[in-house]
Amino acid sequence: MTMQALTPDELRLLAEAGGAAPSLHNSQPWAFWPTPDARGLCLSADPQRSVPLTDPDGRALHISLGAALFNLRLAALHLGREPAVRLLPHASDPHLVAVLDLSQPGADPQPYGRDLYRAITQRHSSRQPFANRDVPEAVLGELMAAAVDEGVVLSALEEDGVRRVLSLTAQAERRTDADLARMAETRSWLRVEQPATDGIPQAALGPQDHEAHVPMRSFTGRPSSDAAHSQRFEALPQLATLTTRADLPADWLRAGQAMQRVWLLATVEGVRVSVLHQAVEWPDTRWGLRDPAEGPGHVQLVLRIGYGPPGSATPRRPVAQTLDLSGMRNTSEGGEP
Ligand SMILES: Cc1cc2nc3c(=O)[nH]c(=O)nc-3n(C[C@H](O)[C@H](O)[C@H](O)COP(=O)(O)O)c2cc1C
Repeated sequence: MTMQALTPDELRLLAEAGGAAPSLHNSQPWAFWPTPDARGLCLSADPQRSVPLTDPDGRALHISLGAALFNLRLAALHLGREPAVRLLPHASDPHLVAVLDLSQPGADPQPYGRDLYRAITQRHSSRQPFANRDVPEAVLGELMAAAVDEGVVLSALEEDGVRRVLSLTAQAERRTDADLARMAETRSWLRVEQPATDGIPQAALGPQDHEAHVPMRSFTGRPSSDAAHSQRFEALPQLATLTTRADLPADWLRAGQAMQRVWLLATVEGVRVSVLHQAVEWPDTRWGLRDPAEGPGHVQLVLRIGYGPPGSATPRRPVAQTLDLSGMRNTSEGGEP
């Protein structure tokens, strides 16, 4: 059975879900439009929303798009449609990162065992200190299995690994802080005074670690010794890395889908997540993130996971700006059944 064309309301629901994904500095570098037969959806990068000094290769941009893609898959299932995804369908159009064929009915609206669709709006970055409470092995195991299902390895780090990654992150954070152009770029995504539809609002920023052992990204360039804006963080954070075999755009998209699936599952479990991306942004510190015992691979993300406040919601661009319903774009992809 082939499903009906998607209605404008269904397309808006899809774009709303895709657009709720996390992205570097809340840059939201995506655009959506229906395939010409309206039984599918195209997901494209919006190069105007890249963060070029911090992310010169577009790696983080693709991770953000991968996260949006996982949300689109969940929304499609919610609409009773099976998402059949083709990544990077045209070598000649690298901005078109995925085409979802949604023409077939979905067999199971919740194939991941949990209501991850509902968690889309409950998930936030939590940059607050976490409690000194271990994440149970069983939960870590579930998160690792979810990543593997997406073709990505999630490694929950032991104490040695945590200390190594914290030290590399602190090193990268210092380097970024001293780089005036990068800091100006980061600050350009802060939205502390005016209401906005992108970027990071004041309420979503967290304190710095008073003892400077959890190097949270300082979006403002404020040092951790600034007592008014620092707090004591958990003694030994639980960190996890997401690693892919190769380091190409398709791997970045897979890493983004895995990150989002892990993050939503964590949200359902009451576990909070924040991203510590600084060390991935410099080639030498990124290289050091690899655990030699784990064999070859490319670390794409460092996640800090634990128990604490949920974090606050950040704004999103209205669907009218991200979803183009104006007509069928000139792509041969959408016409296929
Ligand atoms: C690739 C990537 C890198 C990120 N790096 C950081 C980071 O280094 N520090 C941080 O606090 N948040 C980081 N974030 C989280 C984003 O700032 C966050 O997703 C965005 O502001 C939207 O907020 P939300 O996650 O609460 O929806 C990153 C997110 C992505 C996808």
